[in-house]
Amino acid sequence: MTAIDHLILGQVLDIHANPFDVEPDGCARHIRRGAILVRDGAIHEIGEAEDLRAAHPDARVTDHGEGVILPGFVDSHAHYPQTAIIASWGKRLIDWLNSYTFPEEMRFRDADYANEIANRYLNLLLTHGTTSVASFCTIHPASVTAIFAAAEQRGMAVTAGRTCMDRNAPDGLRDDAQSAYDESKALLETWHGRGRATYAITPRFSPTSTPEQLEALGALWAEHPDCPMQTHLSEQTDEVEWVAELYPSKKDYLDTYEAHGLLKPGGMFGHAIWLTDSERDRLRDHGAALIHCPTSNTFIGSGLFDTARAVAEGQTVGLATDTGGGSSFSMLHTMASAYEIGQLTGTALHPAQLLWLATTGSARAMRQADRIGTLALGSAADLVVLDLASTPAIAQRQARAETIWEAVFPTIMMGDDRAVVAVHVGGRLFDTHKGEWAFPD
Ligand code: GUN
Ligand code: ZN
Repeated sequence: MTAIDHLILGQVLDIHANPFDVEPDGCARHIRRGAILVRDGAIHEIGEAEDLRAAHPDARVTDHGEGVILPGFVDSHAHYPQTAIIASWGKRLIDWLNSYTFPEEMRFRDADYANEIANRYLNLLLTHGTTSVASFCTIHPASVTAIFAAAEQRGMAVTAGRTCMDRNAPDGLRDDAQSAYDESKALLETWHGRGRATYAITPRFSPTSTPEQLEALGALWAEHPDCPMQTHLSEQTDEVEWVAELYPSKKDYLDTYEAHGLLKPGGMFGHAIWLTDSERDRLRDHGAALIHCPTSNTFIGSGLFDTARAVAEGQTVGLATDTGGGSSFSMLHTMASAYEIGQLTGTALHPAQLLWLATTGSARAMRQADRIGTLALGSAADLVVLDLASTPAIAQRQARAETIWEAVFPTIMMGDDRAVVAVHVGGRLFDTHKGEWAFPD
C-alpha cells in the first residue's frame, strides 16, 4: 500500500541559492500561501496552496496558517552528552573541560544514563526546530548506540561518533590508539548508512590524542572516506600554545591533523578561530569545513570567528550550537549570536545568510546538502515551522515589517523555542508545544 500524500500549508520560504553569492531577493522564493507536498518522506512538489490542493484532493492536509515553513535547522557541531551541564559558570576551555565536561561524560559508562540524555537531547532539538545534528558522543560505545537508537526512533538524520581520547583526560575517559580504532570501526560498521544514520570519525582534539591515535583514526578514515570526521581546531589561544608544546615537530595546529590523514573533504573543524594564513589556505584547498560556534565562542571566551571573511576566502562554513560549551540549544539564538559577532568583525549578515548557514551551510559542511537543510525537490521533508509573532515584543516589531526578511529578522534575534510551532521529520509532524507526534505514521 502506498502511503498517502501529505500537504503542508503555510508561508513557504525557500532559499534556493547561496545568499553569499546572490542578492537576498534573488536567492529565495517566498510563497505567502504556499504548500509542500510530501510523498514517502520526501519533498515532492512546492507551489501555491490553492493549486496543490486542487491537484491533490486526497492528500492529508496540515495547515500551519501564517507559520513560515523552512528546512529544519541543521546543527553541525554539538556534544549531546553535555546537555545536562549547559550554562556552567565561570571557566575557560581547559578548566571548563576538566571541571564540568569530563565528570559529566564519565557518567555515560552507564547505558541507562546515556539513553536518558540522548532522548532528552533529541526532544530538546525538535522543540527548538533542529531536525539534524552532528554530535560528539563520549568514549563509551553505549553513548553512540544511545543517540543513534533515539534518532532512529524519531526518524532523524543524525551524525555522531565515539569521542576518542588517549591522553590528558581522566581515568575512565581514556582509550588507546588500537581500542579507539577498533571500537570506532565496530560502531561505524553497525551504524553508518543504517536508515538515516551517519557515523563520524571523532578524535576530540589534538591535546587529548597521541600522534599514534590520530594516525589510527586517519587510517580508519582512509578506509571509509565517505564518513565525515569531526574535531576541534584553534578554539582558544592557550590551547594553540599547548598543541605547539605537545607536537613540537608539527608546523602548526592543523598539521597535527594533516600529518595523520585527517585533512580532506568531509573534515569538520569546530571553532577554527585562531588560524594562520597557511592553515586557512590548506583548510580550503583540502575541502574541509569550518564550523562556526558563536554562542560557545563568546560563552567560553574563545574569540570572534569572521564568517564573512571565511566565506569570501572560499571556505565551507557550517553553523552550530556546540552544546554545552555553547549556551543554547536554539539555532535561532545561534543565528542571533552569529549576527552580533558579524557586527563586531565588520559585516552585518543578512537574514537570508543566517538562515542559509543554519540549514544549507551546515548541511554542506556535513556533505549532506542533497538531503537535508534544503527544500529542493527530492530532499527529506525535514521542516521547521516558525511563528513570526511568538511573543508580544517580537509581534509588535514584526507588525512593521515590509518584507519577509524584515518579518523574520526579529524572530532570529529575539526568538526561542516559543517561535517553533512544529517540525516535520520525514514529513511526520511533531507538535513542539505539546512535545508529541501528531499522528502515528
Ligand atoms: N575542545 C575539546 N573538547 C571540547 C568540548 O567538549 N567543547 C568545546 N567547546 N571545545 C572542546
Ligand atoms: Zn565542540
